Amino acid sequence: VMMLILWAVIGYGLGSVPFGLILTRAMGMGDLRKIGSGNIGTTNVLRTGNKGAAALTLLLDGGKGAVAVLLARLFAGEDAAQVAALASFVGHCYPIWLGFKGGKGVATFLGLWLALAWPVGVACCLSWLAGAAVTRISSMGALVAAASSTFWLVFLGYGTGFALGIVLTLMVFWRHRANIARLKARTEPKIGQKSA
Ligand code: G3P
Repeated sequence: VMMLILWAVIGYGLGSVPFGLILTRAMGMGDLRKIGSGNIGTTNVLRTGNKGAAALTLLLDGGKGAVAVLLARLFAGEDAAQVAALASFVGHCYPIWLGFKGGKGVATFLGLWLALAWPVGVACCLSWLAGAAVTRISSMGALVAAASSTFWLVFLGYGTGFALGIVLTLMVFWRHRANIARLKARTEPKIGQKSA
């Protein structure tokens, strides 16, 4: 149990690094939280118009989830990997450094599944792309990826991750509740559009 707590703390620590905020600030773009949706993730970095910064945010926010999983698996096994996965996601959404006001966890969600069960991760990435391609809306990609993830877990033979899958799916939906309200009102902006 001590081992699992240790990996929860490490996972949370990695997940709580707000790369989108750090990158945009380092590039002199001001406070990302005052732009667009106010979110600290890739989609909102894209609203600054800087595609490189957005790509790097996606890579680093996804990477921290993957690194948390891979380190935990290497040093402590599969249970610790699942704990680190959840903790990294929670860290991104509720970082202590930002008064627990963090992101929506989508990149981290994709990164942790790529590391935990790569076929599921690939399927979730493709689901995101499909949802976003049809609607041109990032949050729709996220909701399609999250909603389909538990199906992919079972379908692709990773039933051991089912409980984690359910928890992460519910959390992604919870973090997107403002987006869901905008989707219902048909005011959710398309990818790259400035207003949100
Ligand atoms: O990854 C978050 C995305 O699904 C929505 O971001 O900025 O449009 O709320 P945003």
